[in-house]
Amino acid sequence: MFQELARILRPFRRGFAFYVVCTLLRQGLVVGGGYGFVLLIRTYEHNTLQSVWMALAVLAGYKVLLDGLDQVMGWNFARHVTYPMFRQLSVSVFARLLKLDQAWHQAGSSGARRGEIANGLSKFAQTSESLAREVCPLLATALLSLFLLRSYVGVGFWVGILPAACAVFFWLSYEENRRCVPYREARYQRYASDYSLSIECMEMHADVVRYNQEQRMEAEYRRIHEEIERNGLAEARVQGWFGLGKGLVILGLQVFLLGHWIGLLTAKRLDGAMLVYLFMLSDQLCSSLWGYAGMWSRISEAWEPIKVFLRIGTAGAPVACAAESESLAVPARVGLELREVEFRYRAEEPVLDGLNLSIKAGTKVALLGRTGCGKSTVLNLVGRTYDAHAGMVLVGGRDVREWPVRQLRRMVTSLSQNGGVFFSEATLLDTIRFAKPEASFAEVVRAARLALIHEEIMALQDGYQTRAGEHGKNLSGGQRQRVALAQALLSLDDPEKRVVLLDECTSNLDAETERTVLRNLWPLLEGKTVVIITHRAAAVEGLVDAMVALDGGRVVAPRMTPALGLALSS
Ligand SMILES: Nc1ncnc2c1ncn2[C@@H]1O[C@H](COP(=O)(O)OP(=O)(O)OP(=O)(O)O)[C@@H](O)[C@H]1O
Ligand SMILES: [Mg+2]
Repeated sequence: MFQELARILRPFRRGFAFYVVCTLLRQGLVVGGGYGFVLLIRTYEHNTLQSVWMALAVLAGYKVLLDGLDQVMGWNFARHVTYPMFRQLSVSVFARLLKLDQAWHQAGSSGARRGEIANGLSKFAQTSESLAREVCPLLATALLSLFLLRSYVGVGFWVGILPAACAVFFWLSYEENRRCVPYREARYQRYASDYSLSIECMEMHADVVRYNQEQRMEAEYRRIHEEIERNGLAEARVQGWFGLGKGLVILGLQVFLLGHWIGLLTAKRLDGAMLVYLFMLSDQLCSSLWGYAGMWSRISEAWEPIKVFLRIGTAGAPVACAAESESLAVPARVGLELREVEFRYRAEEPVLDGLNLSIKAGTKVALLGRTGCGKSTVLNLVGRTYDAHAGMVLVGGRDVREWPVRQLRRMVTSLSQNGGVFFSEATLLDTIRFAKPEASFAEVVRAARLALIHEEIMALQDGYQTRAGEHGKNLSGGQRQRVALAQALLSLDDPEKRVVLLDECTSNLDAETERTVLRNLWPLLEGKTVVIITHRAAAVEGLVDAMVALDGGRVVAPRMTPALGLALSS
């Protein structure tokens, strides 16, 4: 995990280094400026108007220099660290999420996971930025203060008081954080639940309202926040007590130093101005101790979400990485075969149990079976949304794992009942050409006509410029399916496309429209291998070469059309 952290931060090392150098320079100026204040008081004591003016001019110049340096540092940090780091982190997380296999997404595709990721991302950026901004100033402040104080503190301070105060102070900080961890963990889990519930309620707003469940959802949301508050307050209580303890340690340290200096003042080894300056230095030293304790607490707070975020970088090997060799030769027609395939989503619950199915290249098969029997799962294995746990899935005579994943997905088009890619901001025109962004308007219209959706799109006020809305919610269920179908039809233009998997993709259409759509579609599927899943065998009667039924994870009672060479076994 630390390697991952180092890898993420490496590109920004120059930005950090520049900031460190400027910070050291700035701290030198601050401490030097403090001494200038001593000189100013002394000058004022001699009361020469000229020297007062000079001292004021020097101070004004010093202030301008300091402000200028601050601006340069701020600008450079924003330019070389803050924004580039946030951009790079966000883009790499996004790219990683797209690559991770479906099992990972299914395992936690809820808003909670999105919340964890968003939390981790922003905490990572915030924490690394604030650490970069604070570590060096604090270190420089502590070292410079100690250096300048060196002749005005006794040996006892170096060997006894300072190490003891630091030890007690940091032990208290450690203990404070250790006791806060459980409250923080609980709080961050609840933040994720907050995100999850609010996003999901927004997504399903219409149904939540339809069932009159707004108040219950609100109560649940309030409960989450009550828990956040409870844990946050418990944490604040711990911090309060330990903060008090740390404050006493610091007070002891300062009282000791002040006593020592008053002794020197009485012995006339120190003037009043110097005493003020030394007190300022001791104050800086103490505030740097507070600063480190604060940083520690922030790191420990941020560590929970950052851990989740870093885990994405090392999450299970994506399917897409399994085979990225050079393209393989694709036969003109591609057959499908499943040999003794076993698959389960959850351990102990096999969905496919030794399934054997062979579909000859270029044939069209309907896959039937009662709901939940594993039909969609078969298609998921062919397109490598998931990999089989045992047995082999062959496409074009080759194990799917041997095909480079991008090539395999180019060969296979699949469309499911709730399929189709709908982005809330995309127009219907861009939605239909999602898989082929270069398609012309005429091509889009042709696909829409074939999917029997063109007339309805034209009847909309903005026609093809209408926005489909999130998940296509501005459309009826049947319209959504036909837009998705038009989207899939356009992707069929690819000459590499050999296999078409249709999973109840016309289930929301009336029988007549379904039949017409399928008849329109069929000539485009000439020579391709097609598997169509349906609960209405009548819809595909006469269109397919054979019908296959699944039950208990196997093929049962296959109805064969021998002339087509379809071979099934159970
Ligand atoms: N992502 C998943 N995680 C866990 N279990 C799943 C997942 N997807 C499907 N299942 C389970 O696997 C079994 C087969 O699901 P599948 O979607 O293949 O059925 P199906 O035959 O397509 O059903 P339907 O006709 O209802 O679409 C079901 O019992 C289902 O509950
Ligand atoms: Mg299904």
